[in-house]
Amino acid sequence: MLLPDKVAIINGGATGMGRSTAIKFAEEGCSSVIADVNEAGAMETVKEVEKRGKECLFVPCDITDIKQIKNCVDQTVKKFGTVHIMVGCAGGTPRVRGGDAPKPGSRPRRGVANLDGTFWDVMLSLNLKGHAFFCKEVAPYMVKQKFGKIILISSLGVYSPPMPASEYHSAKAGILGLVYNLAFELAPHNINVNAILPGPIKTPFYDPLMANLSEKEKEAKFDEMGRSVPLQRIGLPEDVANVVLFFASEMSSYISGETLIVGGGKPLPLYSEMF
Ligand SMILES: NC(=O)c1ccc[n+]([C@@H]2O[C@H](COP(=O)([O-])OP(=O)(O)OC[C@H]3O[C@@H](n4cnc5c(N)ncnc54)[C@H](O)[C@@H]3O)[C@@H](O)[C@H]2O)c1
Repeated sequence: MLLPDKVAIINGGATGMGRSTAIKFAEEGCSSVIADVNEAGAMETVKEVEKRGKECLFVPCDITDIKQIKNCVDQTVKKFGTVHIMVGCAGGTPRVRGGDAPKPGSRPRRGVANLDGTFWDVMLSLNLKGHAFFCKEVAPYMVKQKFGKIILISSLGVYSPPMPASEYHSAKAGILGLVYNLAFELAPHNINVNAILPGPIKTPFYDPLMANLSEKEKEAKFDEMGRSVPLQRIGLPEDVANVVLFFASEMSSYISGETLIVGGGKPLPLYSEMF
């Protein structure tokens, strides 16, 4: 096993790559705490982890609220005594929050001309600030035990945006700054801090963007996204979870401050024979 008797907090673990990570961690001997706003999804994750013989606690937590983050880490330590691994998966576009947030069934208004102060703050809080404060709360336990792994999910969109979404991509770029800073600051305490930059991955992340599409149209859209990738398929949550596991395990013990793209070959262009 790669993570025997370890304890992880996975924020955003109710669906998508966070859930897949919790399952993979359980198969490698790790118990998890799921910090999320989606209770139904989180309870599914809890079931999947327990099926694999490990413990899993759901703590309702909106990561845009610093007090709820502290409560989540307190609950984790109360139940498990400490925390070894922190995975930051929560993110995306909130459905009905902020002045300019997209409503279900509508597309977000895009482009620099449509920047909205309230929406900007919500996006930065969800996709960047919440992760910084999770790190703040777990770091003292990791420092004390001289061991810790922090893995934060950024986005390939930082380098190669598939659409104008500067609030989201700026926040995800901020994750890289956070990772470089914390990797430097926490290295003397044997804490590894790394980031993953996923390309297109088939998860509920796309629900708000595809709210107007039928199931068949959604599948066609995912296929089309897959054809834009050099490896010619859309990524699956497991493709990211495998790399999270790598960064959480001793297989990567000499890596910190790394930012790894999991994008099926992106941002390389599609293969073509020009001459
Ligand atoms: N799917 C992709 O193509 C893709 C690409 C690049 C980056 N990402 C990033 O990957 C991460 C995981 O996304 P995913 O694709 O698995 O999508 P997902 O929607 O399945 O997962 C996101 C999770 O975050 C949770 N969440 C949302 N707002 C929250 C809040 N305020 N507090 C706590 N939890 C909250 C959701 O309930 C959900 O469980 C996200 O940070 C996303 O931005 C996704």
